[in-house]
Amino acid sequence: MNPTVKAFFDPATWTVSYVVYEKPGTSAAIVDPVLDYDPKSGRTRTESADQLIAFVREHDLRVEWILETHAHADHLSAAPYLRQQLGGKVAIGGDIGVVQDVFKRVFHLEPEFRTDGAQFDHLFQDGETFAIGPLQARAIATPGHTPACMAYQVGDAVFVGDTLFMPDVGTARCDFPGGSAPTLYRSIQKLLSLPPHTRLFMCHDYPPAGREPAWESTVAAQRAGNVHVRDGVTEADFVALRTRRDATLEMPVLILPSVQVNIRAGELPPPEANGVSYLKIPVNAL
Ligand SMILES: [Fe+2]
Repeated sequence: MNPTVKAFFDPATWTVSYVVYEKPGTSAAIVDPVLDYDPKSGRTRTESADQLIAFVREHDLRVEWILETHAHADHLSAAPYLRQQLGGKVAIGGDIGVVQDVFKRVFHLEPEFRTDGAQFDHLFQDGETFAIGPLQARAIATPGHTPACMAYQVGDAVFVGDTLFMPDVGTARCDFPGGSAPTLYRSIQKLLSLPPHTRLFMCHDYPPAGREPAWESTVAAQRAGNVHVRDGVTEADFVALRTRRDATLEMPVLILPSVQVNIRAGELPPPEANGVSYLKIPVNAL
């Protein structure tokens, strides 16, 4: 059964969020929702998330799942806001504890901060199957960009997270804590071994000059033309290329706010005595 996929592109963070469902009036999952965040003022807004909500209501969808492909470093997750508005279980890869452990230390978080993923409603294991109403879905572990990355397959559609990008852009970076280029290569091979017509939905697009943003590809198109991992590129070739490129990349603008919030399943840190929630900036630590 091939699902309907509705994409929402956020030009501020180059992120694509999705609503996946069979047809109006049935169940749905939301993938990688964005909470708008202005780093200059420290203000959050819900315009992006409200577009998802409007779409879900217009199509009379019942949200069963809010799926995170990983703890994002470039945007804050709107998962808690969407769950409050629409319901659904917030889920992420079962190895999220590894990421929480690293960043609990980086941010010197409160001792009670748990690093077993307890902030999420569900933790997926590799190969675990689940239902979105009548749709059959499966979690596919795709570590490399982070140790806890998951792709989600729903019928012939796969939400690949930060693994592959569009063929002319290549692949996700592997230089964050716990990232690994050889591991990403093997994860990508798992995705590229799916049937050629499988639809692949990217988590981001960084279009080259002159191309409009795009987010949907296929296994066949990636194997034929991905600039980093098309057929014939060996693991050693990929690792050399990925490592060279990662050495040139700056940190994402929102990495510090994003990670602190996203390892809490999208919740802000506990408010201080004055009722205000604060984000931390570790100086000379990353
Ligand atoms: Fe990412």
